[in-house]
Amino acid sequence: MAPELLYPCLVFLAVLAGSATTATPHSQCLDNPPDLTAGGDEAGAVVHDLGGFKAYVTGTVHSKKAIVLASDVYGFEAPLFRKIADKVGEAGYYVVVPDLFNGQPYTDGINLTEWLQAHSPVKAAQDAKPIFAALKKGQKYVVGVGGYCWGGKVAVEVAKTNEVDSVVISHPYAITVDDMKEIKNPIEIIGAQNDTSTPPKLVYRLVHTLRQRSEIPYYAKIFPRVSHGFAIRYNVTNPFEVKTAEQALALMLDWFHKYLK
Ligand SMILES: *[C@@H]1O[C@H](CO)[C@@H](O)[C@H](O)[C@H]1NC(C)=O
Ligand SMILES: *[C@@H]1O[C@H](CO)[C@@H](O)[C@H](O)[C@H]1NC(C)=O
Ligand SMILES: *[C@@H]1O[C@H](CO)[C@@H](O)[C@H](O)[C@H]1NC(C)=O
Repeated sequence: MAPELLYPCLVFLAVLAGSATTATPHSQCLDNPPDLTAGGDEAGAVVHDLGGFKAYVTGTVHSKKAIVLASDVYGFEAPLFRKIADKVGEAGYYVVVPDLFNGQPYTDGINLTEWLQAHSPVKAAQDAKPIFAALKKGQKYVVGVGGYCWGGKVAVEVAKTNEVDSVVISHPYAITVDDMKEIKNPIEIIGAQNDTSTPPKLVYRLVHTLRQRSEIPYYAKIFPRVSHGFAIRYNVTNPFEVKTAEQALALMLDWFHKYLK
């Protein structure tokens, strides 16, 4: 089945959409945790001071375009996530995956509510300012942010500033309609039919809000038959999940190709 495009049913669905809900932490954020032992063949390297952060960097350092990938709660060490970063790098970008948790990603058994209190994505976006400043200064990169789950909220917060040029959020966590009123950069939203963190109903409302702001380019797509996390925590032996994640990645790359000039 081809991924469904949102636009045709937009007006109809926007009318149907219910009252405002604030996204709350949900266990789907923890579904299918990454296999941390699956690494070994990554193309990049870890640097220790990129704007004060440890970061996995990969791709083309001499590119004019940089993409910062903001991880889910499991952090920048997840091998599959790094592999995705490598693929973004192969597409011609300098890719930075910062450790926004300073060595303390979510791990099994931690109380998620408490962990999230200690790791607010809003605060992380503020703390990450030196990363964007460093990228804008030295090589003067045009900068995009690809945020996933928890990192989707980071991306949206950064998109409210002039620190970056475009963002893509995949199955994000804690995004609100008000966020869409404040962003300053082109945004692509990649959702999942079975995502309880950012359900399709919420995506429609985000799009409805963006649509009223004619100055901000946007695009949204909801992938069928997948749930939260599908773009980075998929089952690598399930062909459908692999294919869907590849499509999500391709969509993100298309967006950055168009909006990072
Ligand atoms: C997690 O922490 C919160 C806040 O401290 C607490 O209310 C909740 O009961 C805890 N949950 C579990 C499963 O321990
Ligand atoms: C969708 O979510 C429901 C409830 O969480 C779950 O039982 C079902 O397996 C999910 N389906 C897919 C394709 O993820
Ligand atoms: C992954 O997908 C394969 C093939 O569909 C399936 O046999 C396996 O049970 C899946 N693993 C998990 C952990 O869901």
